[in-house]
Amino acid sequence: MTPDQIRLVQDSFHEVLPIRVAAAALFYERLFGIDSGLRALFLASDMPGQGAKLIASLSLVVHGLNCADTILPTVRELAKRHVTYGVKEHHYPILGQALIDTLAAGRGAAFTPAVREAWEAAYVLLASVMIAAAREDQLAA
Ligand code: HEM
Repeated sequence: MTPDQIRLVQDSFHEVLPIRVAAAALFYERLFGIDSGLRALFLASDMPGQGAKLIASLSLVVHGLNCADTILPTVRELAKRHVTYGVKEHHYPILGQALIDTLAAGRGAAFTPAVREAWEAAYVLLASVMIAAAREDQLAA
């Protein structure tokens, strides 16, 4: 990611924060709209709490973009927990799509092509670290 892209992600994240409750609800609606089978993974969870966790973890990532090395251990542990939740590699692009769609709906015209590309780059980076960590964990098992 370029420094400009990191700034675009951080700025637009701060703009979404005031509407985070609505954004989280929209996100899960979109996620289950793309793949209703994913509901089964989240059955046991309290969805409002889950939305808050999602925003918290995005916040970690958004702020960590400037110093990727410091967030790597946290992201790797998060990835390992996701294996136990039943999350598979092919789920990552689906969640990424739901996230981008949610940001697009929440930000409207402010979600320019450059902002979209920056978020896509950030998500792909994060998802690839999580997928690699999950693979390593499974190989080691
Ligand atoms: C970059 C991508 C992702 C991030 C940053 C993320 C973040 C989180 C966080 C912070 C939690 C709270 C629990 C914990 O810390 O272990 C969580 C739980 C969970 N995530 Fe993710 N997640 C990501 C991708 C995914 C994907 C692709 C799926 C599957 C569609 C998924 C499904 C779940 C489920 C099922 C839970 C547990 C819910 C529960 O029962 O409480 N996540 N995620």
